[in-house]
Amino acid sequence: MTSRLAASGLIACAILATTVYGQNNGDTKSAPSPAASVGLKDAYAGRFLVGCAGDLPGRYSDAELANIKANYNIVTPENCMKPGPIHPAEGTYNWTTPDALVQWCQGNNIKVWGHTLVWHTQTGRWFFEPGADGQPVTRELAMERLKKHIMTVVGRCRGRVLGWDVVNEAIADGGTGATENLRTSSWYKVIGPDVLTLAFKWAHEADPSAQLYYNDYNIEQGAVQNKGKHASSMLLLKRLLQEGTPINGVGIQGHWHLDTNIADVEKAITDYESLGLKVSISELDVTATGTNTGAFPTRSGSGTVSPEAFQKQAEVYAKLFDVFKRHSRTISRVTFWGISDRRSWRAGQRPLVFDAQLQPKPALQAILDVASGKKVPTQP
Ligand code: GLA
Repeated sequence: MTSRLAASGLIACAILATTVYGQNNGDTKSAPSPAASVGLKDAYAGRFLVGCAGDLPGRYSDAELANIKANYNIVTPENCMKPGPIHPAEGTYNWTTPDALVQWCQGNNIKVWGHTLVWHTQTGRWFFEPGADGQPVTRELAMERLKKHIMTVVGRCRGRVLGWDVVNEAIADGGTGATENLRTSSWYKVIGPDVLTLAFKWAHEADPSAQLYYNDYNIEQGAVQNKGKHASSMLLLKRLLQEGTPINGVGIQGHWHLDTNIADVEKAITDYESLGLKVSISELDVTATGTNTGAFPTRSGSGTVSPEAFQKQAEVYAKLFDVFKRHSRTISRVTFWGISDRRSWRAGQRPLVFDAQLQPKPALQAILDVASGKKVPTQP
């Protein structure tokens, strides 16, 4: 959830340490790594956008901002546009960080992806509190509050944000896939299952040119066998399309690990494509150690990660990018959830392609080698 590092406001300079992968004291290498000469965004130019999450200006060092400019052409605000931070009380909006982020991105020719409008967490309780008459919130009042929120936030960003994760994580865990298995969130309880359709319609009204996506974790799981959360996501998306929802795509969050089922990832992409939808990998990270269910919260894992685990991590990233490359007509964007193992909600699990000192890890070169065709991974 909230990046502890961003929240602490600590900004450290890049430390040019010379340690070895797998040692306790950091993630850097024994010798300067062959600096990746091509940025990630350029390596995949013409195929899909490559992004990162972060809340940026005022929170990141010059070295970090330079790394972002070199590697990414789209940024997702990690927290500052979520309902809680941006709209903490009825009619009170925090625009400072979102505006600064959008302005910095525009100044650096980087696109912005909005995240997120309807979610079961990081959302003010005020949305569900009694109205002025003191009576419990009604469906109509909750709809009015949500519509105003969406019209105001999307409206302010109109023309400056490429698209939105309109609804985040509406499907519950653990279902068989026989139903949509919607999470019984406060939104669901007060408004009902059509809260999704309404939210997309309002977002479209507020910015008709914005790309609108449904975003969730583990929705690739079960794709090969058409069961579980993936099957639920297909039922949900088919309903939304039948209801005329202005939805353009699906964000597969991609909080993955060393044993992620890549065949499921590929099948999920082609299933969503068969519905006429685009796909983004919206929150990519691959943990190198510890447990990982794909969902929040997890803080598992600690300092020591073996070189073999980082190598395996590079192989998994290579296989994933090989899938994304082969399906680039469907994949619109691949966004890493953070820029370095220091700037990650799973920092202890070293999930990203730059280490805590912003030095390239083996995974970075593997991803670049897939782009250039130098590396063609064997898929399962
Ligand atoms: C989910 C959300 C993200 C973020 C992560 C954890 O995936 O979509 O915004 O909160 O959890 O950082």
